[in-house]
Amino acid sequence: MDLIECLKESAAYILTRCGTENIDVAIVLGSGLGDLAEQLDRPVYIPYGDIPHFPFSTVQGHKGRLAIGYLEGKRVLCMQGRFHFYEGWSLQECVYPIQTFKEMGIENLFLTNAGGCTNKDWKGGDLMVISDHIKLMGDSPLRGPNPDALGERFFDMGSAWNKTLQEHAISCGKELGVELRRGVYMFFGGPQFETPAEIRVAQLLGADAVGMSTVPEAIAASHLKMNTLGISALTNMAAGVCENSLNHKEVLEAGNKMKSTFQPLVRRIIKTWPL
Ligand code: HPA
Repeated sequence: MDLIECLKESAAYILTRCGTENIDVAIVLGSGLGDLAEQLDRPVYIPYGDIPHFPFSTVQGHKGRLAIGYLEGKRVLCMQGRFHFYEGWSLQECVYPIQTFKEMGIENLFLTNAGGCTNKDWKGGDLMVISDHIKLMGDSPLRGPNPDALGERFFDMGSAWNKTLQEHAISCGKELGVELRRGVYMFFGGPQFETPAEIRVAQLLGADAVGMSTVPEAIAASHLKMNTLGISALTNMAAGVCENSLNHKEVLEAGNKMKSTFQPLVRRIIKTWPL
């Protein structure tokens, strides 16, 4: 079965479960933001394992599901749990949900994540609107035959991060008294954190933050001509920028602490989404 036929089946299945009313924004919830999916009005939950052709994790305790409902009066679809390259998924598999959302008629994508801060003028705990990204790894989610029905073979990445949405996020931050940084996110495959030398390279190349997600999804969304916004919760200073060694538990704890600013910000951004 080819990709387009699979996407049609996945999209049709989700629409039968949640109804065909227009969805304003698809939100990918990164570490620390998962609870937002539990705060939707009139929610419909669909475990990934129910959706034909969807990748899903068999790892116990992994909450992988779509939550579709209303947030601040907008109809949203949340991914509670995303697919990472470091888990063993191919980049193509990591972006299959994004391609499904577009097939469902969704035009707006809001990507969130946790990342490490490489900008020495900033601090762990800052929030960053993604203005651009760097991915030096050779693989791409669009490697292989181009599905012409989705987008062009060679496509522009200069508008991958929608400028209107960046401005919108920053002005929502101002309204809430939350200072938002704006910068470049560099993708690393993980699962190991970066070495101090890798972080020095990232800094030299102009990266303000590093992380293990989001970029594949943004590439697929750009191919599909979706409007994409990205915000990173910079949970820690990256390797070598601080003296401490990094561990996942601390990243999760910091992500949890940032919830109290990040969640209201996400709500405000959704409430007045301009596109
Ligand atoms: N590096 C990569 N990914 C991350 C980090 C980091 O320092 N912090 C949170 N996610």
